[in-house]
Parts: sequence; C-alpha cells; structure tokens
Amino acid sequence: MTASRGESSYALFTVINMHPLLTIAVRAARSAGNIILRASTRLDLVKKIEKQPNDFVTDIDQLAEREIIQHIRYLYPHHGILAEEGGHIRGDDYVWIIDPIDGTTNFLHGFPHFSVSIAVQYKGRIEHGVIYDPVRQELFTATRGSGAFLNDHRIRVSPQRQLAGSLIGTGFPFRHHELLDIYLETFKKISVEVAGIRRAGSAALVLAYVACARLDGFWEFKLSPWDIAAGAILIREAGGLISDFNGAETFLESGNVVAGTPKVFKGLLQVIQPQL
Ligand code: IPD
Ligand code: CA
Ligand code: CA
Repeated sequence: MTASRGESSYALFTVINMHPLLTIAVRAARSAGNIILRASTRLDLVKKIEKQPNDFVTDIDQLAEREIIQHIRYLYPHHGILAEEGGHIRGDDYVWIIDPIDGTTNFLHGFPHFSVSIAVQYKGRIEHGVIYDPVRQELFTATRGSGAFLNDHRIRVSPQRQLAGSLIGTGFPFRHHELLDIYLETFKKISVEVAGIRRAGSAALVLAYVACARLDGFWEFKLSPWDIAAGAILIREAGGLISDFNGAETFLESGNVVAGTPKVFKGLLQVIQPQL
C-alpha cells in the first residue's frame, strides 16, 4: 500500500485500548452527531435564535449539547463542564470543553461541513480530544502521549516544509469587525506566499484537517476555547505545533491561533507577527 498525505504506511494500526474518558467523549460525540445529521434533513423544522447580528444558535445546538452533557454527567457527575450554549458547571480537576455544533452557520444553510468538538482537560492541561464530522462519519481522536487517529488510523501532519506550495485554513473575524483590517493584512501577506487559503466554516474541523495533512497550517483571530481545545491536542499528537500569535501557550485564553506542520507553523508566525 502506498503512503498518502496523513496516513503513513508504518502507522496503520487501530486504537485498541482507548482511555475510558475518550470512550465517553466518542460516544457522546457520535450521539450528538446523529441528532445533528437527522436534523440536517429537515432544516425547515430547525428553530434559530440570533445571539448577536449574524451569530446564530439553533434548538439543535442546544439539544446536541444536552445530549453530550448527559453522557458525561451520568458517569462523571463531579467533572466540570464548559460548553458553548450555556452548560457551565463547576467541578473537580476535570473540565469537559464542548462545542455541540462547530459550524452552525454551515449547518443552517445545508452546507455539509460542521462538527462536534469535545476535549477533556485535567488540571488545566488538555488530555483528550474528539472531533466528529457526522456528514462524512469521520471521527478524529487523540489522547496526550498516544497519538492522533482518524477512524482508528494513525494520522500525522503533512511533511510540508515551507509556506510555498502549502494549503492553509483560516476563519474571518465576522464577530470582531474591529479586527478586520489587521486580519486582512495577515491575509494579504500569507496569500502571496502559499498555494491556497480555505475558509470552510468550522474551526475545529479545520484543525483536524491540519492534523491529518489535508491542510498544512491554520490561523484565526478570537476563537473560543470550545473551537480550539480538541483540535489542539489532535495537532500536537499528529506532530504539529499550535500556539497564539506570540508563540505562547495562551491560545485558549486569547483565542488567537496559529497551527501547522513545524515548518509551516514557523513560517506563518513570521508573517503574522510583524502585522500585529
Ligand atoms: C464558529 C466556527 C467558525 C469560526 C468562528 C466560530 P460556531 O463556531 O468555528 O469557523 O470562524 O469564529 O465561532 O459559532 O459555528 O460554533
Ligand atoms: Ca464553534
Ligand atoms: Ca457552536
């Protein structure tokens, strides 16, 4: 079998002993994914609320979030929860960081690109991550120190060593218009260096795509922790790098993210930093 991007031939093995917390995260993500997929066939029935101009939540986001939290609370009633649609529960040293639908605008338009994102933090460090694309039934998983997987196959970031020739993911600061000018500066500088830039509409899924070598890098301003947490551990376990725009660990707090293969990550930081 010939090795292709993201699936090195030496690494084709299955996850036999999944950590119990990851098993629950997978079960919850699949269950939420089924709810979302079913709803996507009857979008006329979906109820939407505008949280702020051009920022929507639907009853399906809320239903999916409740489903995920139920799975977790049943087995781990003392764990903390940080979930986008309001499920904030204080707990012990464990925190589950949840985005029930990452890509709600896509979901609402029948644009088939959205995901469920669940991460588990222990004492502030991300230990497990799951990103599930219910449309393609692609399940991305990672546990710290145990590698990253797509549907049980080991994944690695691409071997891309420079910005030239690379395909980069991003997201526009549509809720933070004050950042548009500075964002567009970074966009201009990056677009002349690379082969292409994609804005697919689910930051979590884009990070998973970097982990499995469909993209070589990513940058975005002002994301939320639930957009990033699971993707961050996937990228690291796949051999990539992720940080905020200062190269620091504080991306969950700042929401500013740059990620990629080690060389592409470095190249992106070098282009972004002088624009800030
Ligand atoms: C959004 C998506 C999008 C990103 C936004 C996020 P949501 O999440 O990840 O790609 O550009 O900043 O808020 O609102 O669909 O969960
Ligand atoms: Ca999100
Ligand atoms: Ca969401």
